[in-house]
Amino acid sequence: MSSVRLVDISKRYNGRERPAVFRLNLEIFDGEFVVLVGPSGCGKTTTLRIIAGLEEATSGDVFIGERRVNDVPPRDRDVAMVFQHYALYPHMTVRENLSFGLRLRKVPRDEITRRVEETAQLLGIAEYLDERPASLSGGQRQRVALGRAIVRKANVFLFDEPLSNLDAKLRVQMRSEIKKLHQRLASTMIYVTHDQVEAMTMGDRIAVMKDGLIHQVDTPINLYEQPSDLFVAGFIGTPAMNTIPAVIEEKTGALVIDGDIRVIPPEIHFAPFYRFAGSPFFIGIRPEHVHLSPDSCQEPFAFEATHEISEFLGNEALAVFRLNVTNIVVRMGVPRTFHDNERVRLFLDMAHAVWFDGHTERNISL
Ligand SMILES: Nc1ncnc2c1ncn2[C@@H]1O[C@H](COP(=O)(O)OP(=O)(O)OP(=O)(O)O)[C@@H](O)[C@H]1O
Ligand SMILES: [Mg+2]
Repeated sequence: MSSVRLVDISKRYNGRERPAVFRLNLEIFDGEFVVLVGPSGCGKTTTLRIIAGLEEATSGDVFIGERRVNDVPPRDRDVAMVFQHYALYPHMTVRENLSFGLRLRKVPRDEITRRVEETAQLLGIAEYLDERPASLSGGQRQRVALGRAIVRKANVFLFDEPLSNLDAKLRVQMRSEIKKLHQRLASTMIYVTHDQVEAMTMGDRIAVMKDGLIHQVDTPINLYEQPSDLFVAGFIGTPAMNTIPAVIEEKTGALVIDGDIRVIPPEIHFAPFYRFAGSPFFIGIRPEHVHLSPDSCQEPFAFEATHEISEFLGNEALAVFRLNVTNIVVRMGVPRTFHDNERVRLFLDMAHAVWFDGHTERNISL
């Protein structure tokens, strides 16, 4: 077992103006499952390749366990990586694909047999050991690709979007298999994806990246409830967190929401934010914390809004309402229909709201 520690890692590819990864600090604990998530090009693969030793960092240090491994070649790092394009050897059987790496490492023959059989059992592919990849389904091939990493009994596993070639249903199935595998093997796993649902369901902790920077490293629940900035608020959660522009008037102390809606909020929600009077900020609120309320609702945070569009999803509906200029998505557990431009009253449950600085975009409610 091993922890992985990245200290001030930067990577600038030759000829590129912007670094692919910039001053990245991240510690992954022994036996932890950490997900790196972020949009395309944010530096996820680069980070993983630096841990594996396939890419050299421009600056910074990589530790695996207590050992600084900057100068240790990939094969001596005790790390196994599963790539997005996992390319099994088509002319080899599953058994040969699984044992290939071990043969290269001169592992004794009976040890190879034992490990291959054990891994095939674990992944449910024992009955295909003598078949070639061409006769396997996408999911079975994916298991063989995982198997090739697992037979190595590495202390650290790196996964680079290993499920992105699979259809949606198989992806859901494989992600719980990988989680189970993690529980069985108890090894350290670092998993890259751009799919925030995959990240949320799999990670003990998640590092959210953008443009080579880590924006937040936290548990799924904390990312969801207290995103560190507007980017994380928008990236984590489907649909994204609603963000409504607001400002506190210096003269009157009133809160002006979405351009022209004035509120005199109760102290409890408000006191910590007087120091931001005069400067713009955003109120962040999840779709499940905005509710339709009766016209008679006298709560300060109940506002008139206009129905724009609704999506019925079976178990729930997502309805979009326009406040003044900003659209707000409401998650409705009990779906109902609205007519065109129907006027409703929305209640924002401010106990669950998050406040963001309008300039820095940082969460100021922490
Ligand atoms: N070999 C390379 N040479 C030059 N630039 C590169 C190289 N590899 C990656 N980059 C650049 O570094 C940045 C980060 O790339 P990286 O592959 O790490 O992103 P990613 O987060 O894995 O994206 P994706 O989700 O699309 O796989 C990108 O701007 C990319 O163009
Ligand atoms: Mg990538």
